[in-house]
Amino acid sequence: ARLHDLTLRRGSGGEYHQIAEGGAPTMTTAQGAPVADDQNTLKVGQRGPLLIEDFQFREKLFHFDHERIPERVVHARGYGAHGYFETYDSLAQFTRANIFQRAGEITPAFVRFSTVAGSKGSMDLARDVRGFAVKLYTQEGNWDLVGNNMPVFFIQDAIKFPDVIHSVKPEPDRAFPQAQSAHDTFWDFISLTPESMHMVMWVMSDRAIPRSFRFMEGFGVHTFRLVNAQDQSTFVKFHWKPKQGMQSVLWNEAVKINGADPDFHRRDLWGAIQAGDFPEWELRLQLFDQDFADGLDFDVLDPTKLVPEEILPPVPVGRLVLDRMPDNFFAETEQVAFMTQNVPPGIDFSDDPLLQGRNFSYLDTQLKRLGSPNFAQLPINAPKCRFANFQQDGHMAMRNPTGRAIYQPNSFGIGPREDPARGFRSYPAQEVGPKSRLRPESFADHYSQARMFFHSQTAVEQRHIVNALAFELGRCEVPAIRLRMLAHLRSIDETLAVAVGDALGVSELPEAATPAVPVRDLPPSPALSILQNS
Ligand code: HEM
Repeated sequence: ARLHDLTLRRGSGGEYHQIAEGGAPTMTTAQGAPVADDQNTLKVGQRGPLLIEDFQFREKLFHFDHERIPERVVHARGYGAHGYFETYDSLAQFTRANIFQRAGEITPAFVRFSTVAGSKGSMDLARDVRGFAVKLYTQEGNWDLVGNNMPVFFIQDAIKFPDVIHSVKPEPDRAFPQAQSAHDTFWDFISLTPESMHMVMWVMSDRAIPRSFRFMEGFGVHTFRLVNAQDQSTFVKFHWKPKQGMQSVLWNEAVKINGADPDFHRRDLWGAIQAGDFPEWELRLQLFDQDFADGLDFDVLDPTKLVPEEILPPVPVGRLVLDRMPDNFFAETEQVAFMTQNVPPGIDFSDDPLLQGRNFSYLDTQLKRLGSPNFAQLPINAPKCRFANFQQDGHMAMRNPTGRAIYQPNSFGIGPREDPARGFRSYPAQEVGPKSRLRPESFADHYSQARMFFHSQTAVEQRHIVNALAFELGRCEVPAIRLRMLAHLRSIDETLAVAVGDALGVSELPEAATPAVPVRDLPPSPALSILQNS
């Protein structure tokens, strides 16, 4: 390739110019005017003040001054890749979703992995939940499966989301710490929120410091519905299983990697895909009906609970392959807008109160973040199937409807019409009851699955959890928070509480927290241990 040299030259009048040489295409302004000099502003004389008539300079600086958009309020740091989803077999029996009708169907996909708490410039190896957001460009509209690398969540009700996130973000007076680690406000909130105990076990486990995005699982978390052509519904939980296996790093490795290469996870994904080593995940479904749900001793609408794979093995239904990096990080990875509400016909929501709240939040936040109701027209967000409606105007409208009438019904035969047979129909679930803010009794058990998770870990993994808790709580400045957490740990597992208490130098453990319902001893689930899986 020819280098376009910059040279200092003397012009015909003897004056200095810094000017490009070589055969590059001509640069233009945003309006298309060819640019003669992109090195020097227009001035009065050679040493005088700048002229405001220098439209070329003004346009360049104006655009630069407005390059930044708000980072995501959560999951700000992320990294994406393109790929495809391949359907193994028809699932027409369970769903009329177009993506699941034909064996071998290939659907384009875009995936964004992320950390939750840190800012856009934070380090990849933070102890944190990882986002695992998948956009599937199906032939009947985009389906976004906006998941995480852990199958449960901190809270049961969406109204608590601002609280849990405020507790984990930098403290407002001092503006640190950046990450979840060693955070008084985070542990304060958690210790006052027993429903978070199961998730906290996951976050203190090896799952929270994955070796790379390629070696982690993904989960839709909530119970969703599949709905077939006869309007019959089957509950479903979505799981992504990495064909690479699962791997994590140790905390002291994570600390060193963060220092040596804060972009470690980005570099790993970039390197693997550029080298043709395409990472792959299998989509597996846990499918169940109302009777099965009624027979469980927890509520499938409670996002702090998982359905153990031993009770209900997930069925493989397809594979996701990532084989191409974006051409432009901002245009694709930053501007992509995932929304839980993006579901095609055949996939529907359950009444999980966290999912219901999320369905409001994503559209709302993305108007703020992307600045225009037309963000769906951006190439990364636009469906890859035909789409047609009467939405018009707004900032940056690039795709207005044409013709005389942009409403329906109209007498001119213009434009698209609804299609009751093909279109999205909400599953007609029976919903009755008084308005209420009460939590259901079926959401009251906060410790049994936390205990199950701890017991499912190998001895090595349990030691990592003890070390993580001792490190985190040891750096809490407020002793009462530490003691409150030890009380919860006693309700999860006595040996865990004793080990953490010893490491913290607490001579007398506080009384165990009082559970709202008795803690049950569930059989440990081998599927929850990374070491037993790899
Ligand atoms: C991103 C809200 C729970 C996964 C976001 C964003 C918001 C948000 C506002 C930023 C979106 C953007 O600017 O594009 C909420 C609320 C929740 C909730 C209100 C609970 C009530 C969850 C849960 C999961 C999850 C349970 C996992 C199952 C994600 C992911 C992203 C994200 C993966 C990043 C998407 C991307 O890569 O662009 N969430 N969230 N969120 N959320 Fe949630």
